[in-house]
Amino acid sequence: MKTVIITGATSGIGLETALKLTLKGYFVIGVGHSRENCDMAIEQIMRRNPEAKTVFFSGELMQQRELKRVAFELERYLAENCNGELYALINNVGGVRSWYQTTQEGYEQQFALNHLASFMLTYRLFPYIEKALGRVIMTGSNSHKGIKIQWKDVMLKKGYNPLTAYKQSKLCNILFAKALNDRYRRNGIAAYTVDPGLVKTNIGNKQTGKLVNVIWSLRKKQGVSPEIPAETYVFLCESRDAPKGLYYYLCREQKYSKEVTNENADRLFELSEKLCGIKYSDLVTEL
Ligand SMILES: NC(=O)c1ccc[n+]([C@@H]2O[C@H](COP(=O)([O-])OP(=O)(O)OC[C@H]3O[C@@H](n4cnc5c(N)ncnc54)[C@H](OP(=O)(O)O)[C@@H]3O)[C@@H](O)[C@H]2O)c1
Repeated sequence: MKTVIITGATSGIGLETALKLTLKGYFVIGVGHSRENCDMAIEQIMRRNPEAKTVFFSGELMQQRELKRVAFELERYLAENCNGELYALINNVGGVRSWYQTTQEGYEQQFALNHLASFMLTYRLFPYIEKALGRVIMTGSNSHKGIKIQWKDVMLKKGYNPLTAYKQSKLCNILFAKALNDRYRRNGIAAYTVDPGLVKTNIGNKQTGKLVNVIWSLRKKQGVSPEIPAETYVFLCESRDAPKGLYYYLCREQKYSKEVTNENADRLFELSEKLCGIKYSDLVTEL
């Protein structure tokens, strides 16, 4: 049985993807924010698929210390129960903020949660992915288009605009997937970014102010059910030969921003390593 880890698996796109992958026979390790929400997610999955094989781990992924603890638990679990192999890591966790807020490390929260958490977790789980010749899948967004990385102020501290911060974090997702492919395709690892489209979830109603809450409550009414984007993750996991593209929407390869260049991907990779205090080259078998 192949093992898949999904972050942000307690609601919305992540929960639906977790359910669908259990129905396809994968062992799904969900990661959620609180234990309570993880238990509710397990209940929902088991109600809809009584045969599901799933466990959940919880933690505050925005804070690096907490993320390291969760990563340690996942590593131990994979080593003891999954033959040390991880077939797919779905970096789906994400959130929206209304104001400039920072993590314990002083990093802007959307940048930290939507990008750095995935960057760091992928690093920690890399040996297990490598052993399985696995796949890394980010949840990106069409909103990554029409924006550049603000290299001189990547945390966007000056004149903070929450929407710009969100879009930039989504551009980071696809730049990270590109960097992984450029570096590690030859090791048998494939990375992708999924654009889920506009999806009816509560993302804009969590930890946001009144204005964002109201706008999102209206906007999400136009969104599709999370079942629709979940199909694209299933497609990327199920394809026997790793699909060649980088960016997928509705199971099809799509065009992405012209900001997704080698130079930007390398620059973000190096900056993220510095911000997380890690070096991928320390653990990867260079081929
Ligand atoms: N909805 C859309 O239209 C849309 C469009 C494009 C991209 N996306 C992307 O899709 C992904 C999933 O979002 P969604 O729309 O499905 O929203 P969602 O239902 O709110 O899912 C977000 C998930 O992340 C978890 N989470 C949030 N903050 C966390 C933290 N600090 N530590 C650990 N877990 C945390 C949430 O857990 P709790 O609920 O327990 O906090 C939840 O499981 C995000 O990356 C988002 O950027 C969404």
